[in-house]
Amino acid sequence: DKGNHRHFMQKEIYEQPIVVAQTLRAYLQRMEDRVTLPIPDYDLSSIKRVTIVACGTSFYAGMVAKYWFEQFARVPVDLDVASEFRYRTPVMEPGGLMIVISQSGETADTLAALRHARSEGQTIAAVVNVPTSTMAREADLLLPTHAGPEIGVASTKAFTCQLAVLAALAANLARAKGRLTPADEKAIVKHLAQAPAALNAALAYDEAIEAMAGAVAGARDVLYLGRGTDYPLALEGALKLKEISYIHAEGYAAGEMKHGPIALIDENVPVIVIAPSGPLFDKTVSNMQEVQARGGKVVLISDYDGVEAAGEGCLATITMPKVHPLIAPLVYAVPVQLLAYHVAVAKGTDVDQPRNLAKSVTVE
Ligand code: M6R
Repeated sequence: DKGNHRHFMQKEIYEQPIVVAQTLRAYLQRMEDRVTLPIPDYDLSSIKRVTIVACGTSFYAGMVAKYWFEQFARVPVDLDVASEFRYRTPVMEPGGLMIVISQSGETADTLAALRHARSEGQTIAAVVNVPTSTMAREADLLLPTHAGPEIGVASTKAFTCQLAVLAALAANLARAKGRLTPADEKAIVKHLAQAPAALNAALAYDEAIEAMAGAVAGARDVLYLGRGTDYPLALEGALKLKEISYIHAEGYAAGEMKHGPIALIDENVPVIVIAPSGPLFDKTVSNMQEVQARGGKVVLISDYDGVEAAGEGCLATITMPKVHPLIAPLVYAVPVQLLAYHVAVAKGTDVDQPRNLAKSVTVE
């Protein structure tokens, strides 16, 4: 049931504040300022290396998590798309943790990677949304997302719930490694607990995003740029747009622009720049200015400070609430989802059932 929404995708975008809150309830002990996992007896302290494997949007959630695991827990992370993982003869030391991320829990490539990692002696953690799925059953550690059924082929609420679970896992790994003081943990609980309200605040920009979707709907190609955890967001934004609007879109690390893609820039290629204010902001803005100097039309997604500092000369700006960097990937997922959604609606494509795509890809 779509309720009063026109598409399941729109409904699922709007459910995010509630389902992220629901997911966080299973991982945050707010009275005690603790981040916990629903697998209380498992000891993460001996884990020396993490391998993350997934496909599509779930892979981009894993890419964000790689930054977190390395930053908070100082544990090295290997990251692969599932279809490549098995065939590159990956090195997995005994005692490693393999994390598979999947909305459906049935994606053939991810499941094959899980089984391969098991045969190599890895402990398997599965971040899955369907609790009865094959991956949920085969994993040693089940870390459920509580997004509820996701019907739209374009994954939205599953992604933000995956991020919430992965942030909780990163905090637990950091604590097990002796790298999280009680004060750090308290701060993480506080920031994560702010995510649902921040997602709500981000949704308030829906009409503004709808109003500018026309500027993107006419394009043949669109680029998305971001740095740090906004780089996976750029990739996710491009995937969402191509999936449902059939516009060719690419995500790039902002610093990679000058190594090739800048040759594509002209006034017909909108460039979506994802850049919350913070330590990486100035660097991303200088990449953005390289685009503008070549006649490129920039859509800047930032917070009030960022838009104030760099919004001038942009084709459009989208102002997000100012949030802590830990929850920025969840919050900035909203405008990229909404932009893809409104562009697709403007183009009249089948938003919930895009051509050539299936919700669950059960062939390799
Ligand atoms: O069910 P999974 O999370 O394993 O699915 C992975 C991908 O097939 C999926 O994320 C796909 O890329 C979506 N259509 C993206 O919107």
